[in-house]
Amino acid sequence: MNTHTIALIPGDGIGPEVLHQGLRVLRRAAEVTGGFRLDVREHPWSCAWRLEHGRMMPADGIARLADNDAVYLGAIGFPGVPDHVSLGELLLPIRRQFDQYVNLRPIQALPGVAGPLRDRGPEDLDILCVRENTEGEYAGMGGRLREGTPDEMAVQTAVFTRRGIERVARFAFARARERRGAVASATKSNALQYSAVLWDEVVAAVAAEHPDVALTAYHVDALAARFVTAPDTLDVVVASNLFGDILTDLGGALQGSLGLPASGNINPERRYPSMFEPVHGSAPDIAGAGIANPMAAVWAGAMMLGHLGEGEAAALVMAALRHVAAHGPLTADLGGDASTGEVGDAVVAAVGRVEP
Ligand code: NAD
Ligand code: IPM
Ligand code: MN
Repeated sequence: MNTHTIALIPGDGIGPEVLHQGLRVLRRAAEVTGGFRLDVREHPWSCAWRLEHGRMMPADGIARLADNDAVYLGAIGFPGVPDHVSLGELLLPIRRQFDQYVNLRPIQALPGVAGPLRDRGPEDLDILCVRENTEGEYAGMGGRLREGTPDEMAVQTAVFTRRGIERVARFAFARARERRGAVASATKSNALQYSAVLWDEVVAAVAAEHPDVALTAYHVDALAARFVTAPDTLDVVVASNLFGDILTDLGGALQGSLGLPASGNINPERRYPSMFEPVHGSAPDIAGAGIANPMAAVWAGAMMLGHLGEGEAAALVMAALRHVAAHGPLTADLGGDASTGEVGDAVVAAVGRVEP
């Protein structure tokens, strides 16, 4: 039987609450299919851990994650540690050091979940966002000068490389070939005359290698509007790090709640483990109340199973998730009054009981 080793980082706030439910669902899928087992190694790295140890993860943290098949993460960030410190010492270094240059974020309406878009259902909202995940606006290049004085300044430089754009664009075009054959590229080349113009040129060159896929470049402001007014015209969206970040929270809102969208931080060459997590954060405003929606964590877990080659189990989990989304119980963000654990129970019970 296959054993997959999973590094579990529950993190902060609602991270542990939702990840615990996700893990239960994955274990149930392993049991039902009988085809694999999960060997889970849990790491308590979080803001609470930092207050005790002075850092977000041990010095050899990356090395300890490296010999796992995947990382499954809840969310990082809690008042008491500045966000740029908690994320800058844990999540962002993992994405960069494991060269997880694709952040794959499906934006799909689930049957039975009424999103904010009038008269729009699952057939109108099925976008796959391919977000560049290692450079661009998140390159971390810059500094501050004359701190605390009236003459203070800050520089934060976006870094776009031909190689970085090309590889994420190739990934997006390959996904479009498996889907509806269209790529929308998020640009802003009317204002960003260096970086976004390079982005457009490289994406167009990759498009020329894929004559069977249609490319449309949209300025990101107009693309944001299109997400709302005409989501059915979008198939695969390829975007820079920051544009992809913003567009996918918008996508989550269109799905009906930030409690739904999931993401995979992928190293396509599989030289390093990939990392799966909800799109949402640690939600300190509802942490500890037991009302967080675990569905994004479950969905991220299904993406992880798919990545690990357990397609049958992934399909069972998604079928169970769709079933509970349509029939309940639901947490408050989706209009219900169930707890995180009750939704988890319902998904666990549906695994293997409802057909993919
Ligand atoms: P957030 O996604 O945590 O929360 C935004 C809003 O959505 C909140 O009102 C929250 O209650 C709600 N929400 C989020 N997930 C939900 C769920 N599963 N069920 C029900 N409601 C949910 O974003 P934020 O408030 O901007 O950030 C909070 C913290 O999380 C910050 O420290 C931020 O840096 C961090 N963050 C971490 C990650 C990550 O680790 N991947 C991602 C985003 C934000
Ligand atoms: C996400 C998050 C992160 C990002 C933050 C927490 C650094 O918002 O995964 O979308 O911006 O990438
Ligand atoms: Mn985000």
